[in-house]
Amino acid sequence: MLITVTAFAHHKGGTGKTTTCLQAAGFLVKSGRRVLVIDTDPQANATLGLGIHPDTPAHNIYHYYSSQSSPDAEPIPLANLIIRTISNIDLIPSHLDLVGAEPLLYQNPDRYEILARDIVSLKERYDHILIDTPPFLGQFLLNGLIAADRTVIVFSPDSFALNGYENIRMILTDIEEILNKKIQIRMAVLNRWSLPVPEESFVSKFSARFKRQTGKPEQADEIKQILEEQMKREVGTVIQVPDSLQVGLSNRRGMPLAFSNPDDPAAKAFEQVAQTLDQG
Ligand SMILES: Nc1ncnc2c1ncn2[C@@H]1O[C@H](COP(=O)(O)OP(=O)(O)OP(=O)(O)O)[C@@H](O)[C@H]1O
Ligand SMILES: [Mg+2]
Repeated sequence: MLITVTAFAHHKGGTGKTTTCLQAAGFLVKSGRRVLVIDTDPQANATLGLGIHPDTPAHNIYHYYSSQSSPDAEPIPLANLIIRTISNIDLIPSHLDLVGAEPLLYQNPDRYEILARDIVSLKERYDHILIDTPPFLGQFLLNGLIAADRTVIVFSPDSFALNGYENIRMILTDIEEILNKKIQIRMAVLNRWSLPVPEESFVSKFSARFKRQTGKPEQADEIKQILEEQMKREVGTVIQVPDSLQVGLSNRRGMPLAFSNPDDPAAKAFEQVAQTLDQG
């Protein structure tokens, strides 16, 4: 019985969407859940992060989307694309070829609802379906957001401004209006939150402005705290993930921390993400 379809999203690159998706998937599988990850990003980082080279599978999400380009085409069933990975997480892999499917889809008037329509066929087979989305506002991100019941927004210190939430909420509201579907934000993940705030980031700029305006020597850390509180008010559930060397190693080995290093502090935070998702 399916508990949730969850999309991991942020329009900025490198915030930790793929990492959060895969690490949460690891803990869900470890607790006995049946989990499918759908990689909808041409960069194929979720595919690589589960130990699969994108050239290896005979079919990938490119074949799926490009088979939906014309009304006469025979669509490839999503179930035909599923592969089992070494950590027992099932995967629909991606490939750089996916870039080529984007223009083909413009011929399909229902192009934003393709994944939402077909994902229904998989709901009996999984407890959780996790969708890793790309960092650009195109058809694959929109398909992921519409197919998902819930969205997890992943922020990193350099992506976060005082109005960081307002920016993303504005984008989501536009999408909701165009597509006539409500996007539920389940939680905010503040990833790499233990890192010092980069000098050029919004948080640091805000910190400097605050100092000038109030004369108070506010530190970037205190500003971060203000931002965390804002996120709690707006989204409810906020999970902070520290920076950890183990994350990169886990991605390179294709083995989630739930299995290789469950006591790592970042792993513990990802376990909390998984537990929150499992509550529905
Ligand atoms: N908590 C963390 N500790 C250390 N490294 C991390 C952490 N989270 C992510 N990273 C590293 O940061 C990089 C970007 O992470 P990731 O690929 O998950 O971001 P993304 O948002 O999916 O990026 P994109 O927008 O390009 O899809 C990766 O090299 C990853 O290993
Ligand atoms: Mg990614």
